[in-house]
Amino acid sequence: MTEFNERFNKNCLRNCDRDQRKTTTDDDICLITRSVTDDLPIRCVGEWSRTKIYLLTQYFGIFSTGMKGKWDGNINYIEICSGPGRCVERSTGMEIDGTSLCVVNHKAFKYLKFAFFFDSNKDVVNTLNSRIEKFKINNAKAYYGDYYQPDQICEIILTQINQYSLNLIFIDPTDCSLPFFTIESLKKRLPHVDFIVNVAVGTDFNRNILQVLLKTDSYKEVTKKYINFLGNKAFFENPEIKQLAVDKDSLGLRNAFREEYINSLRGIGYQYFGQKQVKHYYDIVFASSDPKGIDFWDKATKNEYDGQRTLDLF
Ligand SMILES: C[S@@+](CC[C@H](N)C(=O)[O-])C[C@H]1O[C@@H](n2cnc3c(N)ncnc32)[C@H](O)[C@@H]1O
Repeated sequence: MTEFNERFNKNCLRNCDRDQRKTTTDDDICLITRSVTDDLPIRCVGEWSRTKIYLLTQYFGIFSTGMKGKWDGNINYIEICSGPGRCVERSTGMEIDGTSLCVVNHKAFKYLKFAFFFDSNKDVVNTLNSRIEKFKINNAKAYYGDYYQPDQICEIILTQINQYSLNLIFIDPTDCSLPFFTIESLKKRLPHVDFIVNVAVGTDFNRNILQVLLKTDSYKEVTKKYINFLGNKAFFENPEIKQLAVDKDSLGLRNAFREEYINSLRGIGYQYFGQKQVKHYYDIVFASSDPKGIDFWDKATKNEYDGQRTLDLF
């Protein structure tokens, strides 16, 4: 057993394709089987999720250990789009902990003041709380929270944190619909925040972006969604970007989209950035206002997840 708490789930049907998953899952939660560790619901994921979980957990460990004893111990972790805490890899039937449980289970978790987990699926929130309860800790909780309503999320956080706090926010959506105003609101209302955002290009973005740029009038809704995500229209007004679409340069477009996102983060005061591509699925973007953040990021991303590594190198 690794720190992923890996267990084989023999009831996973394995390799359900997108069509099959319309009946075997609901909101990506498996309807066929439950966790072999606790009989609670599990989320159906691709095997590339491990790379993301590994990276996030590495960063979390380095950050929490590096900051322990600083900020009078007022260090908080906030995850938006937390999931239920446990996943099943559809290619192998292996069950693993998701990011939220990996964080709670991490040896550096003890350095946190509080961990907040938000998800807009109420069953997912209840499931994660049932899992957290088993740890018998009183500094972690899952809440209902919708990333289209950042004020509600901030209200919950602000009732519990000290103004003198350092906060790490991880946002892990399944597509690029997270509005940039959510990032702006969180940054405005919470003191001292670093972000790790999963720019999930592997779902609709990779499929659509060429067409969206070449036939914007036929893709008004999708265009609006990406403009909201980036927080401005620059990407859609830049002739060089249009040319990338004409040249069918998908990688160039993906890189330009991520750079535009980083520009938006720069516009709200961030100065230090990191990014990690996970195959064609995710671009994980890191933003900090402190150079120490980028040292932590460089350490966290030095080692690729290779299928063997354990989660708590730091
Ligand atoms: C990629 S999954 C999260 C996986 C999780 N971080 C992990 O590693 O186990 C995305 C989650 O976002 C949630 N979600 C979808 N739309 C949301 C919204 N508007 N606000 C908050 N959560 C949302 C879904 O219910 C789902 O649980």
